[in-house]
Amino acid sequence: MTILVTGGAGYIGSHTCKALKNKGFNVVVYDNLVYGHRDLVRWAIFEEGDLLDRGALDTVFKRHSPAAVLHFAAYAYVGESVTDPAKYYRNNVQGSLNLVNAAKEHGVKNFIFSSTCAVYGVPARVPITEDMALNPINPYGNTKLIIEKLLDDYSVAYDIRNVRLRYFNAAGADPESETGEDHTPETHLIPLVLDAAAGLRKGITIYGDDYETPDHTCVRDYIHVTDLAEAHVLALEYLLKGGKTRAINLGNSRGHSVKEVIAATREVTGAEFKVTVGDPRPGDPPSLVGSNKEAKEVLGWNPQRSNINTILEDAWRWHRKRFSK
Ligand SMILES: NC(=O)c1ccc[n+]([C@@H]2O[C@H](COP(=O)([O-])OP(=O)(O)OC[C@H]3O[C@@H](n4cnc5c(N)ncnc54)[C@H](O)[C@@H]3O)[C@@H](O)[C@H]2O)c1
Repeated sequence: MTILVTGGAGYIGSHTCKALKNKGFNVVVYDNLVYGHRDLVRWAIFEEGDLLDRGALDTVFKRHSPAAVLHFAAYAYVGESVTDPAKYYRNNVQGSLNLVNAAKEHGVKNFIFSSTCAVYGVPARVPITEDMALNPINPYGNTKLIIEKLLDDYSVAYDIRNVRLRYFNAAGADPESETGEDHTPETHLIPLVLDAAAGLRKGITIYGDDYETPDHTCVRDYIHVTDLAEAHVLALEYLLKGGKTRAINLGNSRGHSVKEVIAATREVTGAEFKVTVGDPRPGDPPSLVGSNKEAKEVLGWNPQRSNINTILEDAWRWHRKRFSK
């Protein structure tokens, strides 16, 4: 059975390709390499192409007749989405519309979408459950919510069933260091702290230390990327067995503050580095933690590596391998 993975040359997509391949699926990656890496397409046939190129999408659907689509490809820089929303609406919304229309025309009935906790905006409480209000506070989150809604409408009208997976903070790397996080520019806390530990940057800035959290720095829910990959395989199996359309959080039901991540990084790497406190970033919620009750009950998901020290150990091993080349 063939599965089409958009964005499979990227961070979460490449780990998911490995997990799919290990389960015996044939995998086809569709990626324009704007942020992806050709050498991370190791468990799939590679089709280079852009979501905005409807003709190329049609060719790929005809050539491979996928049974399902896993849709990771998107732009995901929150700050840039504020200053250049046109870029985000075009790539994420128009690109996804092209993809889902191609799926519709080629009779593909199973669709898994990379959504985000950003669709909840500033939550009224944590842990966040799937039934809570959806109020994104930036264009990136808006694009993801629009795609969720269009997928729901297509599910009702055309029976393209979907699972929208709302990830919290993806982190860590393949335990065998065959793939990992490699974003340019990098904005995620863990690779930045590891850069500081490796001496590749001068230190790390904590954005705000006056939040209403136990140590006054922001709390986020870090989920190991191989646990995320496993959740995609489970969501695919769920859809292939006839499971109904739904949204599911992929979080750890537990958060870590910025200071806790820094302390754990010092412990795992044994390195010292400079830490400074900067201004809080506008629109940064104090705490984002996702309940994973639904993922456990509906998909039978059981995250194995999402302990913060394991996340850091795996990421650190990948980091050193990447920079020792
Ligand atoms: N990393 C996280 O913590 C996180 C959290 C929540 C949601 N997400 C979502 O998960 C998905 C994957 O995130 P990631 O961190 O792996 O990102 P990534 O940038 O590593 O991967 C995205 C891939 O999509 C490709 N791509 C982008 N636009 C494309 C287009 N128009 N046509 C073809 N390919 C295109 C890029 O080249 C890249 O390989 C994204 O949709 C992101 O919004 C990520």
